[in-house]
Amino acid sequence: MIETFKRDVERGLGANPKFLSSKYFYDKKGDELFVKIMHLPEYYLTRSEFEIFKKKSDDLIDGFDLDNQIPFELIELGAGDGTKTKELLKELLKQDYDFTYKPIDISKHALEQLEGSLKESFPELKVEKQVGEYFEVLTDLKNSGKKKVILFLGSNIGNLTDEQSSRFLKELSEVMNDGDILLLGVDLIKKQEIVLPAYDDASGVTAAFNLNLLERINRELGANFNLDQFVHEAVYTEEEGIAKSYLKSMESQEVYIRALDRTFIFAKGERIHMEISRKYNDRILERIMEGTSLEVRDKIMDDRAYFADYILVFQDRA
Ligand code: AVJ
Repeated sequence: MIETFKRDVERGLGANPKFLSSKYFYDKKGDELFVKIMHLPEYYLTRSEFEIFKKKSDDLIDGFDLDNQIPFELIELGAGDGTKTKELLKELLKQDYDFTYKPIDISKHALEQLEGSLKESFPELKVEKQVGEYFEVLTDLKNSGKKKVILFLGSNIGNLTDEQSSRFLKELSEVMNDGDILLLGVDLIKKQEIVLPAYDDASGVTAAFNLNLLERINRELGANFNLDQFVHEAVYTEEEGIAKSYLKSMESQEVYIRALDRTFIFAKGERIHMEISRKYNDRILERIMEGTSLEVRDKIMDDRAYFADYILVFQDRA
């Protein structure tokens, strides 16, 4: 892990233009900052998707096309604290479906927390937590013989380039069988006035979230980034539909990273590209799904149409 981290940091900061991978945001402090982000007034994504789960769980369940008599598996990739999923679980239990909830996460700690809180809320729910990387676990689950409903929520797919998400959906469909469902939560393309503040909040939490990765490099790789010398910058246009964030060097400066025994030079105004958050519409999603055997069955949105949960069905035509 530390070896790939080292290699990725060296590759990114040695590149022109410089970049770092947003997958490294989530250390302990990063997790805490992301929880704060989810509560920011500007960060509408979580609340919009929660509204869908709160008000439209029935529509989601209809789209899953379940049979009350046949057990199925509800699998969640990157389960988090389960706030949204609990709304769906509540409704599935109420309607007497026979299912096992299988949250997958790389954080054992997060899964244990989730399991505890689920026991309390739904003592009758069957939970089998799975610690590991998505595809390791999914490969094990492929031949369970049961129908699968896979949840991938929160617009987490948005951190991938279209090429990467296309590959991701192809790999995911490898473990799916006819009639299996992928519930894919994505943020929708909309006006800059709404999207940009979500990635550039007034209280500076998103800036801190970004800067935390430099702090992590200081801590874990013995670097000497001066966090006061970098500022957070976010850009988004409705035409492109991708929010991008950067850290900009305010002065010309050098940063030494001990674990790499290497110095990196920053020009005044030079930026490190930190993250993309892709926003979607039907056309973009269709393009990403091309060649996968997945088809859009339904699209459930919040009242403002900020966010969508697409119900995708695996339908092998071969
Ligand atoms: C967790 C990937 C959905 O891109 O909106 C929030 C991460 N980055 N603010 C997103 C994030 C800055 C978030 N995702």
